Amino acid sequence: MHIDLDAFFAAVEQRDRPELKGKAVVIGADPKGGKGRGVVATCSYEARKFGVGSAMPITQAWRRCAGQCVFLPVDYEKYQAASEKIMVIFQRHAEKFEQTSIDEAYLDVSRLGGFERAKGLAVAIKKEVLRKEKLTCSIGIGPNKLIAKIASDYEKPAGITVVTPRKVWDFLAPMNVRSIPGIGPKTAGALAREGITTVAQLRRCTKKWLEDQFGSFGEEMYEMARGIDDSPIIEEWEPKQIGRQITFEKDTRDKSVIWETMEEMMTDVHGQLRAEKKAYRTVTVKIRYEDFETHTASRTLIEPTQRREAMAALGRELLQPFLKKEKKVRLVGISVSGLVALQA
Ligand code: TTP
Ligand code: MG
Repeated sequence: MHIDLDAFFAAVEQRDRPELKGKAVVIGADPKGGKGRGVVATCSYEARKFGVGSAMPITQAWRRCAGQCVFLPVDYEKYQAASEKIMVIFQRHAEKFEQTSIDEAYLDVSRLGGFERAKGLAVAIKKEVLRKEKLTCSIGIGPNKLIAKIASDYEKPAGITVVTPRKVWDFLAPMNVRSIPGIGPKTAGALAREGITTVAQLRRCTKKWLEDQFGSFGEEMYEMARGIDDSPIIEEWEPKQIGRQITFEKDTRDKSVIWETMEEMMTDVHGQLRAEKKAYRTVTVKIRYEDFETHTASRTLIEPTQRREAMAALGRELLQPFLKKEKKVRLVGISVSGLVALQA
């Protein structure tokens, strides 16, 4: 099963600001009245009707829909927070789980033993995400990752598409070659010059010819055109870091509050290190001031250790200089990384 949220950044903004519901919303760089630099991150489906889309220069988006679209800046932290909550939901329903971007993931649901049941689960996941996070997603179910991915895109937004092994061949045949992951504008252009635009046409190429034209990716193309893919779902076993951060109820300048918070977080982090029987090499602190100016600083030890005192000493040393400013502090955080398992 592959799940992809619909118009993700734009949908989060529409959720949080009801006045934007049903409106054309463009998320990206500041258009500055048509003189802005940068690109569109994404836009709501209402805005897509104007021909606006991801990665388009913001000036072009402005020309297409100024006055009719609402332009908003990217609030990555907000989307990240929404993403984390949604991924927890996905993960709970999967035997194996692989997140591949901020808004998409693969779930191995083979244990259900059939496509009908998998579809039932997809309906349930979609409902749960809508109820808990007020967002819609599109879901594809197939015999492998390749087909699931293409299927999730098939009935966007809010669609569920099931492609059983029997249907794979016909499902892919009429599709544009661009539906195949990895085939971008350049490869598609090269194929088009040979009169190849659909997957059915791509299947007429020999493996040898594709290899000659596109190297090792040519061989992959040959397989993908036939719906063949045996790539596994890769689970992330090890957390890359253990960390905590806290946003204060009210921005503060009170050092004792800040240091106490740091101590509590370090006790937490250390507790988790002990529970997971891990040592760390790197300590990182993070601070954000009231105006959102944000800094991080790290230090790496030569030898891994699990000791709390070392973490605390480094944490204090790293944070100290940032507390000399006059500004109030909004958030502090500490994390350890470079984790190694300790022998039992
Ligand atoms: P996508 O899933 O590609 O797009 P989407 O969720 O906005 O729309 P769709 O309904 O078609 O899935 O990407 C997820 C988010 O990643 C998207 O909301 C914004 C961000 N993004 C960029 O910042 N730049 C880009 O070029 C793309 C493609 C996405
Ligand atoms: Mg998406």
